[in-house]
Amino acid sequence: MCGIIGYCGPKPAGPILIQGLRRLEYRGYDSAGIGVLSDGDVAVFKKKGKINNLAEVVPEDLPGTCGIGHTRWATHGVVNDANAHPHADATGKIVIVHNGIIENYTALREKLEEDGCVFASDTDSEVIAHLLASLYEGNLEKTMAQALTLLQGTYGIVALHADEPDTIVGARNGSPLVLGIGDDEMFLASDVTAIVAHTKQVVYIEDGEIISITPSTYHLTDQRRNTVDKKIEFISWELEEIEKDGYAHFMEKEIFEQPDSILRAMQGRIDHEYATSHLGGLNMSRAELLNTERVKIIAAGTSFHAGLVAANLIESIARIPCTAELASELRYRNPIVERNTVYFAVSQSGETADTLYAMRELQRKGARVLGICNVVGATIPRESDGGVYIHSGPEIAVASTKAFTSQLTAFYLFALLIARMRDMSYEGGKEFVQALESIPEHIRSMLSRVDTIRSLAKKYAGVADFLFLGRGLNYPVALEGALKLKEISYIHAEGYSAAEIKHGPIALINEQTPSLFLVPDDALRDKVLSNMKEVKARRGPVIAVCVDGDRDVAEVADDVIEIPRASTVIYPFLMVVPLQLFSYYTALELGRNVDQPRNLAKSVTVE
Ligand code: G6P
Repeated sequence: MCGIIGYCGPKPAGPILIQGLRRLEYRGYDSAGIGVLSDGDVAVFKKKGKINNLAEVVPEDLPGTCGIGHTRWATHGVVNDANAHPHADATGKIVIVHNGIIENYTALREKLEEDGCVFASDTDSEVIAHLLASLYEGNLEKTMAQALTLLQGTYGIVALHADEPDTIVGARNGSPLVLGIGDDEMFLASDVTAIVAHTKQVVYIEDGEIISITPSTYHLTDQRRNTVDKKIEFISWELEEIEKDGYAHFMEKEIFEQPDSILRAMQGRIDHEYATSHLGGLNMSRAELLNTERVKIIAAGTSFHAGLVAANLIESIARIPCTAELASELRYRNPIVERNTVYFAVSQSGETADTLYAMRELQRKGARVLGICNVVGATIPRESDGGVYIHSGPEIAVASTKAFTSQLTAFYLFALLIARMRDMSYEGGKEFVQALESIPEHIRSMLSRVDTIRSLAKKYAGVADFLFLGRGLNYPVALEGALKLKEISYIHAEGYSAAEIKHGPIALINEQTPSLFLVPDDALRDKVLSNMKEVKARRGPVIAVCVDGDRDVAEVADDVIEIPRASTVIYPFLMVVPLQLFSYYTALELGRNVDQPRNLAKSVTVE
């Protein structure tokens, strides 16, 4: 979603804001802007398109050491210069950037227009600038407090006033905001990637809080406007982790990082002596784990697909009922919260609004909700009752890859823990651990032979539609493969259970519509093979992902991508990597913007 940065310090603000926006560009990239305070004026620059377009119009010697910036992901109002942030009041003295949606903006705008305000954009955000101006009596922090009582919706707001040099005021409700504390300089940002080059000391701002910064001070107040003193936390990410490190794209880097990121998700969590796992962050006693009667998983997008694999695995090996559901749907269907049920909210960013609000709804009903998240200190892990950090390192490409396999790793460890408390024997546990520990090496070997996938991407890049088909544990992997392809190549792709195609999708099969089948050597292999033959009989091109040397599959398929023969339980890891690569190379072939595909955002903080 939109990215926000604010800087207050001794250095020229312009370059710091532009550099911060470049690091935030993955959050939203349809337009960008900055506002810099200098000599009682705020100079505003904004431009449709990428940060480079903005950088071209910002003078290199722009004076001013205090300013704010924004990358936009449009919600209200088309993508153009006028709708880009910052937005200003009529005098140009109050300048704001906003992430989120102001739900009562129509009523506020009508009222402000009646009072004579002239609006310059179609955005909901602009009302904040005019509202602040209408309430302003010489103190921006106090004015912000007043304005918040009138604003409904979600926001991360950062504002400045031309008459208050060296001061930036921020407020948060539902959209992330973090304070960065440097040496005689302060930062406000929507996520730490924007400021990690300057400082690693941060304070996470909570909903309802207002933060006011000057170069050397900060003042934080809670919902009742009492001053709060919060713990300073340290960012563990290194700057190099948010750079491409020689790869052409972040997505490529993140795919290739998976042997290491999966290992990190496992590290210190496997108990070889008892063939089980340790997950201390769950905050659950053994008795509570033993009494767990059901597991329910909520998530969105790729995280939801990881949840679907996990639901299948947990139910089959831990022998407790487990389901995964879209968080956006759960929230509004008045879900029943049963006793002895553990919920998992899965989210790479830890900020996805659909997942966060569903989690809060469940907690309100008395549920225990655990988080499976990547970004340390994000809202979901902070508000959850416990959970597992997946330690993937920053994931910058909009299309999620390494977070998916690390989310799976966390779930596999949880499944092992519960399974070993129930039916799974010590021997079974050992086999499971061995399989888990073999994943990084298997993926490493696959990543050293990507040429087949690259040439298949070339061969099929021109098609209009694609089907991805799998079964069992690999059915959600087919959904994920289809999602990856549509996200970054814009080819229409559908994921289905291979069994299901005869109930409808087979009508789509013709010579121009390829089907990609996931055919591991598991219990359902022969059934999938039959489905492949059904597609071939209708002249549909078939690509199969199968184990090394599976001749039966190779005879039927037009093209084959081979994966190492392994324990069937870990095939989702080995199946998804070729699909990630296939979509990556297809998008390259089509000249797409791989890391920042059209219309998408990395972390969707609106509903
Ligand atoms: C957005 C991203 C997806 C991601 C989904 C859930 O739609 O574009 O890549 O899977 O959000 O994000 P989360 O951070 O909650 O895992």
